[in-house]
Amino acid sequence: MRMRRKANLDGRIADAEKTGRLLILNVEDRHFERAVLEKEYIDFEKIFGNKNPVVLEIGCGKGQFCTELAKREPGLNIIAVEKSSNVIIDAAEKAIAMGLKNLITIRCDAEYLARYIPEGSVSRIYLNFSCPFPKKSYEEHRLTHRRFLETYKKLLAPGADICQKTDNRKFFEFSVQEFTQSGFALKNVSLDLHADDCKDNIETEYERKFVAEGLRIYRLEAYLL
Ligand SMILES: C[S@@+](CC[C@H](N)C(=O)[O-])C[C@H]1O[C@@H](n2cnc3c(N)ncnc32)[C@H](O)[C@@H]1O
Repeated sequence: MRMRRKANLDGRIADAEKTGRLLILNVEDRHFERAVLEKEYIDFEKIFGNKNPVVLEIGCGKGQFCTELAKREPGLNIIAVEKSSNVIIDAAEKAIAMGLKNLITIRCDAEYLARYIPEGSVSRIYLNFSCPFPKKSYEEHRLTHRRFLETYKKLLAPGADICQKTDNRKFFEFSVQEFTQSGFALKNVSLDLHADDCKDNIETEYERKFVAEGLRIYRLEAYLL
């Protein structure tokens, strides 16, 4: 079901952009493979004012996770990426209201990230409750499809990892296969995160909903050998 466009969305986006907490990245070229050959790298040192490690959350939704992470970990710089303007505006406004200087929200499709994020610059990527796209014909849109994993490989710094959580068992199984076939190894795998020790876990908006419905949460960390 499509979400209704928020009232005064353009005005709210313009206000958030003025604060520097929201970047709207528009690529004219819809052919993403060609578009990522051109680089418009974000200067992390300039936007954050320090050289702290950078982590990415892709598909951040309304920003529950990234704002809490930014609050708990002031020594990390966080880039929260979301393709929908209607959704990321909530994340941007939360970051602004909370005065989080170590969080920047970006409206961008994950397909274009290699255009903006410098190679080898990211110390962790979070994929929280990414859309599972259950239909086989849509599997290329899953954020753990191998075509996305090839992009992430370029962005990850040596020793960096990807942390995935999902409630969807089939999507989790698909992801395990994609990670392993793309040269990643897995660690800290949980088939029921909330039954395991997860005291440092930051619950996302979707996670809270799924846990309340009694669903299991699957989690893994993937790293390059
Ligand atoms: C199911 S929601 C989960 C939101 C949040 N991570 C949470 O756990 O509460 C998935 C989000 O990923 C975004 N998304 C899906 N595909 C994307 C892509 N290719 N690039 C960026 N964001 C994407 C969707 O717009 C949606 O807001």
